[in-house]
Amino acid sequence: VKSIAVLTSGGDSQGMNAAVRSVVRSALFHGLQVYGIQRGYLGLINEDIRPMDLRSVGDIIQRGGTILQTARCKEFLTPEGQQRGADILRKHGIDGLVVIGGDGSYQGANKLSKLGIKTMALPGTIDNDIAYTDFTIGFDTAVSIVVDAINKLRDTMTSHERSSVVEVMGRHCGDIALYAGLASGAESILVPEVPVDLVSVANRMKENFTNGKRHSIIVVAEGVGSGHDIANKLFEMNGIESRVTVLGHIQRGGTPTHNDRVLASRLGDFAVRKLIEGESGKACGIIKGELVATDIDIVVNSKKPFNMELYELAARLSQ
Ligand code: F6P
Repeated sequence: VKSIAVLTSGGDSQGMNAAVRSVVRSALFHGLQVYGIQRGYLGLINEDIRPMDLRSVGDIIQRGGTILQTARCKEFLTPEGQQRGADILRKHGIDGLVVIGGDGSYQGANKLSKLGIKTMALPGTIDNDIAYTDFTIGFDTAVSIVVDAINKLRDTMTSHERSSVVEVMGRHCGDIALYAGLASGAESILVPEVPVDLVSVANRMKENFTNGKRHSIIVVAEGVGSGHDIANKLFEMNGIESRVTVLGHIQRGGTPTHNDRVLASRLGDFAVRKLIEGESGKACGIIKGELVATDIDIVVNSKKPFNMELYELAARLSQ
């Protein structure tokens, strides 16, 4: 490849900017031309493409969001839209593309690869729901935000001897709830990967208070249902009133942690090197510290395994 482009697509995540910076600077280092595409696949179809240089990615490694902005584009889901995207890239002399985003963005990258554009996909989502990488870019920061919020909730819940239900993001994946719940010592963690037993959660809350605990924190992954519904059901079962906090998009903003910046920097550089080697249709990830490139076809058809060991550990430690 001689000329590549980079875009961010789907929901944004902290560390996307660090990934864009890494792609741009690694490509320039290797003597390639680099373009930034604004607003994901929508910008591609609208030819919103601009050249990037070293300075266009200055001062962004520490910023949340994405300087390239992002969008969800219906037209790109159609074969006509995808063909148009490939034609536009060719028209601009672009023969390689790095897509930073979640599952839907991966599918788009795969289609373009099949239309002859060399593509690499990077896992940019807070949800940690992409297979063939241990972590996605943004997950670590989102978990830190949830842990920080629970620390604060714990202060006031303890003072009032209350119970708190905290609803967190993650779509169909329970990882944000799992990691944040374990890291904050939550009494119960409800995730879509494990059947929810509300009766035992309700009983546990009662026992906690009779055993001298002065609070109860219940973390609910959005994939399980609404925090408000869970709190109402628990109240019907045990008569203990809970305060509900829905953390929402707070989890997607703010400065990325060093883990997300390092992950993004490594993956961005890896994607560029893989393109230079002539590879295409690959999803870049890090497994047990090692950089790996896996066929996007395989990745989008695989479910990320849930870490039962961590789930059971969290249960044991929150007695
Ligand atoms: O995929 C990231 C995510 O934040 C999910 O956790 C959440 O379900 C969804 O996006 C929210 O989407 P939107 O930003 O469109 O409301």
